[in-house]
Amino acid sequence: MQSNDSFLPRHVAIIMDGNGRWATSQHLTRLQGHAEGAKRVYEISEAIKAYGISNLSLFAFSTENWKRSSAEVKGLFTLLNQFAKTYLKPLISNQVRLLISGDMSLLPESTQVLLREAIDSTAMFKENTLNICLNYGGQDDIVHATKRMINEVSQGRLTIDQITTERFASFLYTQDMPPVDLLIRTSGEQRLSNFLLYQLAYAELYFTDTYWPDFKKEQLHLALDNYAKRARRFGGL
Ligand code: FPP
Repeated sequence: MQSNDSFLPRHVAIIMDGNGRWATSQHLTRLQGHAEGAKRVYEISEAIKAYGISNLSLFAFSTENWKRSSAEVKGLFTLLNQFAKTYLKPLISNQVRLLISGDMSLLPESTQVLLREAIDSTAMFKENTLNICLNYGGQDDIVHATKRMINEVSQGRLTIDQITTERFASFLYTQDMPPVDLLIRTSGEQRLSNFLLYQLAYAELYFTDTYWPDFKKEQLHLALDNYAKRARRFGGL
């Protein structure tokens, strides 16, 4: 599937919202909503790759999501474990690097092991990146990067004059990924919710009422078409 012109984003980021409301609308449990949402993760990652878009970031679990019931949190990590197991082979055959943004040390041990294996066995694929944000917060990302950078300066490996916006970005969890061109948020909410704050500086924002479990290839196509029609000025005229 190709968009109607070549004006494709290099980096798409998605806030996958509305699994719970979708489940309620279908008389299902919240976990069933997340399970249906997980199916879209597989489909949309494949579709993004098929368009020739090299970078995809997905907000799968925020630093605030720990406030949910322990059953829901456990269920979400079970889905992530399944994803890491099932999707490792396709990642390797499609030459896609898996990146995890966020503090992984607080994730369940089984999730850390599975994700670490997937990260290590795809690290060489620098051209395409699937970035899953887990236990992630944009402010935390910036503070974490700042601490790492100060450490480099105090060790004498970086001078203050070498700190540019690009160099700062390289200390973020997203490392060498390009800035986000298009942010998609599903389910009608129009907020950033502490997602990729630095990386979104010039992103085009696309909000749709569609709940994430209903966001299929056709909805992605609409979002990309909408993006292609926007005139991006980056502060110029
Ligand atoms: C927001 O919907 C969604 C989440 C907090 C979790 C997103 C997780 C998935 C899509 C599935 C697992 C992910 C992977 C990568 C396999 P919500 O629950 O806040 O919806 P609501 O606002 O309608 O309650």
